[in-house]
Amino acid sequence: MLLHVNNVTKSYPNAPVLRGVSFDLRAGEMLALTGESGSGKSTLLHLIGGLDSADNGEVVIDGVAMTGLDDGGRAKLRRDVVGVIFQQFNLIPSLDVGANIAFHARLAGRHDAALCTRLAYRLGLADHLAKYPEALSGGQQQRVAIARTLAAQPKLVLADEPTGNLDEAASDGVFALLCELVAETRAGLVLVTHSQRLAARMARRLNLSNGLIA
Ligand SMILES: Nc1ncnc2c1ncn2[C@@H]1O[C@H](COP(=O)(O)OP(=O)(O)O)[C@@H](O)[C@H]1O
Ligand SMILES: [Mg+2]
Repeated sequence: MLLHVNNVTKSYPNAPVLRGVSFDLRAGEMLALTGESGSGKSTLLHLIGGLDSADNGEVVIDGVAMTGLDDGGRAKLRRDVVGVIFQQFNLIPSLDVGANIAFHARLAGRHDAALCTRLAYRLGLADHLAKYPEALSGGQQQRVAIARTLAAQPKLVLADEPTGNLDEAASDGVFALLCELVAETRAGLVLVTHSQRLAARMARRLNLSNGLIA
């Protein structure tokens, strides 16, 4: 089992957000996580990615229980096993596209120049490697973010509304490429989207409502 989420709860001072969420994900499995705005999708993804910690319950990634880890341990697990793609791309403005793509792989000690080149071609970025993020369209920036994540060879990819800032045409292309490339690496994927249209294209769907997975 790549990911095991068991009875996870999380509250903020004014309200419970997650009230006991459980699901499993196998290696190579891809699922869409849907739910209305404010339903706790990002909160859940952040807990899985070790960006925040749960109040109760268990998150086990690749056999390692996050619950027992301190901040440093969670950061290490995130670097070694998990790749996160955000809605806002989060590229590094001072680095060109090529250096952005290699960045996480270098941090993780897994830089592979041939893989970076291959990803750049597949994502239509080969002619843009010397450009800086500000010179790219939103769709291109998100494709750099995808290349950067996959270049680090994560076993688990977490994507939080990765096409939420793109128009419909760009969104469809980026979504299709992300799914195709993740499938080729046999990584697991949890993709958060509020789009039923995109979720419908994924084999497995979970919906978050009232703090629970329905
Ligand atoms: N850091 C925080 N402090 C307080 N409340 C928060 C915080 N982050 C999220 N929330 C609240 O938790 C709920 C779920 O938020 P979120 O996980 O971002 O939902 P979604 O991603 O589904 O839109 C919302 O009511 C939001 O206001
Ligand atoms: Mg969100």
